Amino acid sequence: MSGKERWASRMGLVLAMAGNAVGLGNFLRFPAQAAKNGGGAFLIPYFVALVVLGLPLMWIEWTMGRYGGRFGHHSAPGVFDSMGKRWFWKYIGVFGLWCNLLIASYYLYIESWTMAYAGYSLWGGFAPAATDPKFVANFFSSMTGQVDNQLFAFSSWGMVLFAVCISFNVWILSKGLAKGIEIVSKIGMPLLIVFAMFLAIRGILLAPGVDPGVIEHPAVGLNFVWQPKYDSLWDPSVWLAAAGQIFFTLSIGMGSIHCYASYLREKDDITLTGAGAAWTNEFCEVILGGTILLPIAVAYLGLTAVTAMTAGGSGFGLGFMVFPQLFQHWGPGLANAAGFMWFGLLFFAAITSSLAMGQPIMAFLQTEFGFTRRGSAITFGAMLLPLSLPVALTHENAFFGDFDFWAGTFALVVFAFLETLCFGWVFGINNSWREMMTGAELKVPTIFRFVIKYVTPTLLFLILIGFIFKPKQEWGTVAKSLFTGQSIGTWEWAGDGMIGKLQHADLPDPATLGPIEAEFQKNLRTARTVDRLMMIGAFAGFSYLVHRSWKRRRAEGKVAS
Ligand code: PHE
Repeated sequence: MSGKERWASRMGLVLAMAGNAVGLGNFLRFPAQAAKNGGGAFLIPYFVALVVLGLPLMWIEWTMGRYGGRFGHHSAPGVFDSMGKRWFWKYIGVFGLWCNLLIASYYLYIESWTMAYAGYSLWGGFAPAATDPKFVANFFSSMTGQVDNQLFAFSSWGMVLFAVCISFNVWILSKGLAKGIEIVSKIGMPLLIVFAMFLAIRGILLAPGVDPGVIEHPAVGLNFVWQPKYDSLWDPSVWLAAAGQIFFTLSIGMGSIHCYASYLREKDDITLTGAGAAWTNEFCEVILGGTILLPIAVAYLGLTAVTAMTAGGSGFGLGFMVFPQLFQHWGPGLANAAGFMWFGLLFFAAITSSLAMGQPIMAFLQTEFGFTRRGSAITFGAMLLPLSLPVALTHENAFFGDFDFWAGTFALVVFAFLETLCFGWVFGINNSWREMMTGAELKVPTIFRFVIKYVTPTLLFLILIGFIFKPKQEWGTVAKSLFTGQSIGTWEWAGDGMIGKLQHADLPDPATLGPIEAEFQKNLRTARTVDRLMMIGAFAGFSYLVHRSWKRRRAEGKVAS
């Protein structure tokens, strides 16, 4: 049964935790975020966020998880309940189930694409892309069924793939921690690193004039990422983006780390192993992720084109539409192998993360409702259906993008902020620090006590405010107008802030468009209203399950609150 479930080895734990963190975020999101936020301008805020937010939250979540596990809890509601004491903390823990389910509903969809692309590359299917520039884009749209200005998208084979991908995840999850997740991580992580190293090295060796199609030295792309630009330090939106990336890539503020850590033993080390998992993620992100997408794309397309293609902060366009075509320059054999390696590494990165999204929900069903492993894995798949079907069947700006904003970005900051309060203030920094240091193999400098209690929550609070009230105008302009009383014209909210998102400020105004586009924009807004109601419904549903389960615990005399 679930209570006996444990990691089989320390190596397995580290690889599973690293696999949890290393995901699509490392290879597609990081380079694109860096490019969007001015290249080298991004790295300083990014590393600062790693030290003051990433590492502390990593230790907080490991410690909370191990502590909750001692009382037989393996998902966030129980973990929060054991630390928070008051009745409402278990409902805050609901975030740790809800985020995972919602993120999984679109993450698995992308994962299914990587499967298709890896297979198709290996088989040599992308060869026509060498002469037909539209070939890859057509492949992509036939797989997703997406058409411009149409809300609904349907592709039968895309749906079959998606179903296969979900079933595969369910099957692995049903094997349990040691025989499922741990084995996949032990195979997937090393392969991923080998594939990534090969592509990174092959990429930086590209030379204009020697390799056909290369117009720029790949070092131009590398320089762009690494050359620091200090003026960005004054731009709060770069800080927001850097913090957002740190959250997503380390899988913090999601409840999946609590779950994995809850299977540790009481005296198992947290500080060194946690830092090791974070380090592995950063290696895979900054070194490997930073040396594949941008340098290769810049070598073939030039810096200007590449920055334009990543303006949205996502690497999908380059990764899925452009790369299979660029690889064709490498000659038929190597093109197939490189395509297989690129999409294969994305697949391994994705699956070791999507398993980490499923496990908290399984653990919840097992410990709270006595489900078997198999039953809970299948239930996870069944819970995904009503959410992931609309993701696959509508335009990416409807469910897909909206889930990613609310559950995959905004909620993480909310959850992490509340968790620092629970850890440093409610449970108390003295107790928390002692708990964290039990079995610690790495002596964390005591300055982190101060950071965890004061700095991290304060910064999270500021980030939260920034996310809620993000203005469309540059922050500098807003600040200047506050001091000088100068008008900044009509006030508008940014499309990627909370208020702006609620007002659909990220979508074009239908009044300014032609009839077909306007109709589409209206449909998008309706779809988003539906998806938001579904998100609220999912949260309410999990909260109800928590309520029922604690009612039963009380009846059995297991808890006081
Ligand atoms: N960290 C993963 C990535 O970088 C994403 C993830 C989200 C993993 C939620 C687990 C849980 O892609």
